[in-house]
Amino acid sequence: MNLLHSPVLLYRVIEGLNIIPDGTYVDCTFGRGGHSINILKKIGKNGKLIAIDKDREAETFAREKFQNDNRFFFEKDNFSNIDSIIKKYNGENKVNGILLDLGVSSPQLDNPSRGFSFNKEGPIDMRMDTENKMTALLWLKKADVDEISKVLKKYGEEKYAYKIAIQIKNSIENNQLKTTLDLSRTIYNCYPKSKIRKKNPATKSFQAIRIFINKELQELEKILDDCLDLIEKGGRIVVISFHSLEDRIVKNFIKKHSQRKNLISKLPIFNINEDFILKKIKVPLKATEEEIKNNMRARSARIRVAERV
Ligand SMILES: C[S@@+](CC[C@H](N)C(=O)[O-])C[C@H]1O[C@@H](n2cnc3c(N)ncnc32)[C@H](O)[C@@H]1O
Repeated sequence: MNLLHSPVLLYRVIEGLNIIPDGTYVDCTFGRGGHSINILKKIGKNGKLIAIDKDREAETFAREKFQNDNRFFFEKDNFSNIDSIIKKYNGENKVNGILLDLGVSSPQLDNPSRGFSFNKEGPIDMRMDTENKMTALLWLKKADVDEISKVLKKYGEEKYAYKIAIQIKNSIENNQLKTTLDLSRTIYNCYPKSKIRKKNPATKSFQAIRIFINKELQELEKILDDCLDLIEKGGRIVVISFHSLEDRIVKNFIKKHSQRKNLISKLPIFNINEDFILKKIKVPLKATEEEIKNNMRARSARIRVAERV
């Protein structure tokens, strides 16, 4: 099978999910099925894999390549609707593992017409779900300087957010903001020359706009909360994230639910286990040098694993 997306941290994902042959698993970020195909290899004929992606191209790929596997079910939807998707394919039963490999896929990034890349000419789009009406350009046109600046700061930690926001609005007014390269150039020109390093100055702003347009952090927070009621005891949740904002959400989520709540020191404690919902599973957080050499996407990947108890 020709996989356009080489799966990140594959070995650790499979180990982290701790797959049982008859189990039901959910790959919430199917992409091009790099992880899905390896989950299918591990489950038996009574196992089940429910895959989700909100990208129409991912859906077309999934339906074409996996249609003969009756253990595989695909839903083109937002993963934050996981609750109803699981009900559709698994009834009231809980699942044994949930995987989230966050962010954009290589095919999305590499296709200039999707508008995710700051160094390939294309429309300023950045929608993972192209049925969603709000493209990045529409939003930039609609938003005011303060709103744009806030997004660049919050989701891109961009130091020159305000200056960039002003220039974006100027470029729009002068009819000079049509393509991703126009946007890259506008951002580049806001950076003092002495501050331009190896990393393209547009990196942070593109990331910020993409996260905002696709509501990435809100979707993540929702699915993490929902997962708690959807995973069987002993089942695992595995999350790969690519920037510190996502990773912080995942880390705090695991921490919050693997601590005892309402613990008043010096009082006798009965039923200590009652308050624990998750157990953190220790895995190396980052990819090895070897993996980074083979797959550049692994460079900024962080993996976290927790078990429902
Ligand atoms: C990093 S890629 C996953 C790659 C995949 N693991 C593979 O090996 O091919 C992330 C995918 O998740 C999808 N995605 C991101 N956020 C989503 C969401 N909230 N709901 C559904 N799909 C989402 C994107 O469209 C993209 O295809």
